[in-house]
Amino acid sequence: MDQNDNEDNFMKVFKYYKSNKPKPSLHNVISEQDTSHVVKVFTDNVREDARTAFLGLQNCQKWNLYTFRNHPGLFLIRNPFTGLGQRYWIRKCLEEYPKKPNKTNIDLEEIIDDWWSRCYTNGECNHQLLKKLRWSTLGYHHNWDTKLYTENNRSSFPEDLAELSDIVASYLGHTGFKAEAAIVNYYHMKSTLSAHTDHSEVNLKAPLFSFSFGQSAIFLLGGQNKSTTPSAILVQSGDIIIMSEEARVCYHAVPRILPAKSIPWDDNIQSTDELSIKEATLFKYIKSSKDVISRLNSNSNEEAWSKYCSYIKESRINMNVRQVLNENQTSLVGAEFIGM
Ligand code: OGA
Ligand code: MN
Repeated sequence: MDQNDNEDNFMKVFKYYKSNKPKPSLHNVISEQDTSHVVKVFTDNVREDARTAFLGLQNCQKWNLYTFRNHPGLFLIRNPFTGLGQRYWIRKCLEEYPKKPNKTNIDLEEIIDDWWSRCYTNGECNHQLLKKLRWSTLGYHHNWDTKLYTENNRSSFPEDLAELSDIVASYLGHTGFKAEAAIVNYYHMKSTLSAHTDHSEVNLKAPLFSFSFGQSAIFLLGGQNKSTTPSAILVQSGDIIIMSEEARVCYHAVPRILPAKSIPWDDNIQSTDELSIKEATLFKYIKSSKDVISRLNSNSNEEAWSKYCSYIKESRINMNVRQVLNENQTSLVGAEFIGM
């Protein structure tokens, strides 16, 4: 086989799952029951984290953690969110994260301060504008042309998403993780994401956290070049994929969105009690836990939730969180390294 044939292995699988005629068989798509590929990790000694309830997460004891025999460094956490928690994050991704100063793909055409409100001006829904959003970027904004992050293209990172990432990072033993950049991807039923590696970050040793909500997807993970035939993994609403170590720099893609088999964002919706824990000692990044709890609970009202509900019925949202800087580095400008 020559080099080009080799390089086609990732693309062949991508095209197979993307195809509509014929439709792909899902027979080889790995699910967590598939013990020939997946290993359940028993984390008996997991420390309780009092922050989980505030951020729409179930108690860590209820999370299921899996690793993949063929992909060292790749992890999947299934069932970490409550139904109300999924609603919270879906709504955040629609209502808050596309707002300025964050960037979106729509900026190339028109700068819209508040995309979600604009979609619903005068009580009507502008479906065309609603479907136009494909990504928004938070923290260090990924520059899609240069693939570089820069200090002058940075806004503050959302406190709640930093806190959520910190909880998951700590659960996996990564105590020093700092959420500094995120891409939020918005997919419709025919959307795909082509093969790529994420290597714009200075720090490729830090793990990458990928949170998925709404419709399901086939996620492909291959090797460090496209000659490796990738594994196809079913990703469902609420799943967290962690790409660390070797898997952090591997090719991956989303060739297909699939209708969700269940609707976990409708499960067991009830308000979360106000929790009486001293805020200052609890959170690393969030300033007011009262705000978070009231936002969480506002989505238990079906009417308040209904617009987000109709969006997510035919879409998938993925929050892709990265650390950009090395430990001890405070900025991308060389002279600002601590200790230099
Ligand atoms: C990305 C990415 C995967 C997904 O944003 O870089 O790989 O599951 N997303 O949407
Ligand atoms: Mn990626």
